[in-house]
Amino acid sequence: MAVQWNENLSTGIDWQDAQHKELVARIGSLMEAMSTGKGKAEITNILNFLENYVVTHFSKEEEFMVNRSYPGYAAHKAEHKRFIYEFTVFKNEFEKEGSSSSMAIKVQRTLMDWLVNHIGKIDKGLGEFLSSNAYKIKSIMV
Ligand SMILES: [Fe+2]
Repeated sequence: MAVQWNENLSTGIDWQDAQHKELVARIGSLMEAMSTGKGKAEITNILNFLENYVVTHFSKEEEFMVNRSYPGYAAHKAEHKRFIYEFTVFKNEFEKEGSSSSMAIKVQRTLMDWLVNHIGKIDKGLGEFLSSNAYKIKSIMV
């Protein structure tokens, strides 16, 4: 099964979509590596990527939520925290035991779940809020 960016995942916010597209591409690389028996090796790359990504991407979303007084902020931030926790568990396991095929499967499942349930639903809700908020600001200015 290949994973690809599609319009259903779009939040309508350019910077958010660009960062999500990068994550989708990384999941694609992991899945491709797994299908050719190289999942173990790719785990290092994806964990390195995620280490930086969770900090920069989540803080940018959270900054927008705070600045625009987003009503779903607390629940959204809690989801980010949960993901960071899951990532930390993977990282600790990786540092202790190295990578394994079963770990590649677990990481892939977690990321796919994130894609469908967080990006496809929760981030989409945020995107809609940010878009309508921008529209309101624009219409006041006109
Ligand atoms: Fe998010």
